Amino acid sequence: MSDVEYLKSQLTAHPDFPKKGIVFLDIFPILRNPLAFETLITHFLHHIASHTIAAAPNKKIDVVVGLDARGFLLGPIIALRLGAAFVPVRKQGKLPGACVSASYEKEYGTDSFEMQADAIQPGQTVIVIDDLIATGGSAKAAGELIAKQGGKTLEYLFIIELMFLKGGAKLDAPVYSIVQSD
Ligand code: ADE
Repeated sequence: MSDVEYLKSQLTAHPDFPKKGIVFLDIFPILRNPLAFETLITHFLHHIASHTIAAAPNKKIDVVVGLDARGFLLGPIIALRLGAAFVPVRKQGKLPGACVSASYEKEYGTDSFEMQADAIQPGQTVIVIDDLIATGGSAKAAGELIAKQGGKTLEYLFIIELMFLKGGAKLDAPVYSIVQSD
């Protein structure tokens, strides 16, 4: 079985969660299984080394941005392994100090995202990570926060991409997803 098939086999689908009509795809079974979690992180790192960094202007990623909340479970591990900074994008009102903010619509509701204003320096190369891309609204808001600070987003990375919602089309950089779902 390939890494991708293995990771796909670990995901679980929950119909009508958190509300009717949504099929919620749960990544936590991967995190409960150390072999699957290691496979996931190694898969991302291999992709980043062979594609993202190879195409980067300075052959280096400066910052890994993780999205609230499940991006916080993946981003710091990847940042540490890359020797990059980890920067969280959080729901409004959670981060201290001066922040930049951007609002977005998601598959079920609306929200506003913030990043600390001194988190990214102009010209830094950035990748964005989250568990899943649905409408792409939250990733787009994160991209706006990065651009406001002068950062250059190289790629958006997800475990799962909901293809029917075409979220990737909203974004200012390519999307990489391990599992494509329709
Ligand atoms: N976030 C938005 N849509 C989702 C879905 N279908 N499953 C898991 N997380 C989501």
